[in-house]
Amino acid sequence: MLNAQITGWGKCLPPATLSNHDLATFMDTSDEWIRSRTGIGQRHISHVSTSAMATVAAQHALAAAGLQGSDLDMIILGSASPDTLVPNIAATVQANIDAQCAAFDINAACSGFLYGLGLATAQIKSGQAKRVLVIGAERLTFLLDWLQRDTAVLFGDGAGAIILEAVDSEEPQGVLSYAMNNDPQARDILKVAGFGTDMDRLSPTATEFQFQFEGREIFKRAIAGMSALGKQVLEESGTDLDDVDLVVPHQANVRIIDTLINKLGLAKEKAFINIENYGNTSAATVPIALCDALDQGRIQPGDTLLSCAFGAGLTSAAAVIKWGSRITPV
Ligand code: ACO
Repeated sequence: MLNAQITGWGKCLPPATLSNHDLATFMDTSDEWIRSRTGIGQRHISHVSTSAMATVAAQHALAAAGLQGSDLDMIILGSASPDTLVPNIAATVQANIDAQCAAFDINAACSGFLYGLGLATAQIKSGQAKRVLVIGAERLTFLLDWLQRDTAVLFGDGAGAIILEAVDSEEPQGVLSYAMNNDPQARDILKVAGFGTDMDRLSPTATEFQFQFEGREIFKRAIAGMSALGKQVLEESGTDLDDVDLVVPHQANVRIIDTLINKLGLAKEKAFINIENYGNTSAATVPIALCDALDQGRIQPGDTLLSCAFGAGLTSAAAVIKWGSRITPV
């Protein structure tokens, strides 16, 4: 049986950080407000492009898997903040790592990495690809209005990547199940308006980003979307709740994670949470969390992981992953 197993992983966090206390020096906010409502303590701010961070994460992932760019059959990059619309930035990463293969971006906002993982799994299980690089990378702070305190405090920059490889084995392993969905009724509650071909070029504010955001509505729909898909992938993979060793959720808000875990009927300790250090890095949160969980020994050979995400659209996605034997780089 053809399985799709994670064999390499890597992340890139730009060195500059902005703490909640730093934000409070120029914005009417406080460390207490941000921490108590979101769990965020600081975020990383990039001065390089999304593709530059994605390239570093990809290089680490390739090294961890003992592979080179030329070994890849496909590159899928999830991002809502690409440095260029044309060409796609997977192509930029591809050039940087000397790969010769298919390469494309997907915009499923914060669910972009798990959407990519699902697509890559389908390619591998159907025999179309043997090795796929899946990346989540964002430079969302570039899109922020630093005078809009309800959104400016939430996001950070970074990238994470994994290598998904075909493994032939009798027992199912790797990505056991995945699901993706979108709630189009909620497409206007999280939006960066005015760009793309919607842009009114004659407007004096044409080049200003307008972040539209209804935090409480997103909160509710995020829980509903992620818990529905989380239950679906557990059922489809035949995984009991007791068999889940670790939940690696999208890191948008620690209260969303707590509520999700509770709704799924899992113990709080099973959630991996690292939002304090990074804020919401959108499509990059899940692969960065995988890297940190491995670094901290929270993932062991043969562990069963559940990952869930939601994002603008409102997209949602989930996957059950049975980890292989590799928990340190080759
Ligand atoms: N500092 C201080 N006060 C603030 C700030 C801030 N940074 N931002 C907003 N406020 C004020 C508002 O002006 C408002 O004041 P008012 O009541 O006088 O009008 C008040 O705080 C709102 O407070 P709450 O309603 O208690 O805020 P809430 O508990 O809803 O928390 C939050 C806001 C954190 C955004 C929450 O709604 C949330 O987590 N939403 C979902 C998660 C989310 O949207 N994440 C973003 C990314 S989405 C994604 O990942 C795709």
